Amino acid sequence: MTETAADLPFADYNVPADPPAGPRMAIIGEAPGAEEAKQGRPFVGRSGKLLDENLAAAGVERARCFIGNVFRYQPPGNKVGHFFASRTRARKEGRAIDERWGAFGTSDWVLAEFSGEIDSLRNALREFAPRVIVALGRTPTWALTGQNGIMQLRGQVLPCRLLDGVEVVPTFHPSYILRGQLTEQPTFLADLKLAASRLAG
Ligand code: URA
Repeated sequence: MTETAADLPFADYNVPADPPAGPRMAIIGEAPGAEEAKQGRPFVGRSGKLLDENLAAAGVERARCFIGNVFRYQPPGNKVGHFFASRTRARKEGRAIDERWGAFGTSDWVLAEFSGEIDSLRNALREFAPRVIVALGRTPTWALTGQNGIMQLRGQVLPCRLLDGVEVVPTFHPSYILRGQLTEQPTFLADLKLAASRLAG
């Protein structure tokens, strides 16, 4: 069965109504998991706990950040590939793709029915006006910078393609660390500290 947007659980962003004064950080993941979809808030499950611990260690107050996802829908099996397709697959499934945002990987484009998610992310970011955005993993790195390859891009400071003058620091998704790459936790923390350092001055 091909689930469309209407069939999927949904967790909206929570842009603080009254954003804190001073330079702000946004943190963007890929899509809600089951717990996030249930509670309607991003990063409240196991990944969220790891994120919170490392934010605290980097001296970042979560309450001062906007935390969101590229996609507000929970994909079946938590597989973000649900939102993308090659031309061939899209044709086979009778779905339209939107090439406006460029390819995700080598040949996958966001399906037209989900491409508004990136516009919505841009609107949320515009409202929050961060100075720096932490991209948690490959999907937000692609959405925010148009570039692919988290292993090469993590730990860099890149321009955000959705908002002029805003920086993006890609790092690992916490679920990658939880899936067994515990040795990457110090790198994750170092990337968060790099992002935090961009708020100074
Ligand atoms: N993983 C994400 O990418 N986002 C969440 O909100 C939770 C888990």
